[in-house]
Amino acid sequence: MDKKMETAINKQINAELYSAYLYLSMATYFEAEGLEGFANWMKIQAQEEMSHAMKFYNYVFERGGKVELDAIGNPTSKFDSPLDVFTQVLEHEKEVTSLINGLYELALELKDYATQSMLKWFIDEQVEEEDSAAKIVDKVKLAGEKGSGLYMLDKELGGRTFTPSADEE
Ligand code: FEO
Repeated sequence: MDKKMETAINKQINAELYSAYLYLSMATYFEAEGLEGFANWMKIQAQEEMSHAMKFYNYVFERGGKVELDAIGNPTSKFDSPLDVFTQVLEHEKEVTSLINGLYELALELKDYATQSMLKWFIDEQVEEEDSAAKIVDKVKLAGEKGSGLYMLDKELGGRTFTPSADEE
């Protein structure tokens, strides 16, 4: 694999680990607010991000490359409300989408067909990631900041479970 591609994927491993860290930070906000279902959703999301990092990690080794782990940035821990948190989730996922698109553009430029193929999973995944964040933003708006609507949504998000994708089982 071209060194430029390897370096860019290593940066993405770091970005996925940062995402896991960010969502875990968001989970701590919900734990403190007594919204256990929201906290559950965030902890599952953090696991998903770990699995994204591991997909890239495994791929680098499959291609005979080298994984170099860098320091993970400090995630923010200041949140005003559930709506503020999920608005930040959506913004963050849009940023991740542009990172994945950037990787794909590099793979095109380098005529790295194997990496293009691997990245297709992530391109599809980002459509889902943005869609699910946007849907929860809408639901939080509908539920309002307090009361029974938020309680019902907390119950719903508490039902989320982690499903590893086929190649991780
Ligand atoms: Fe790894 Fe939420 O994108």
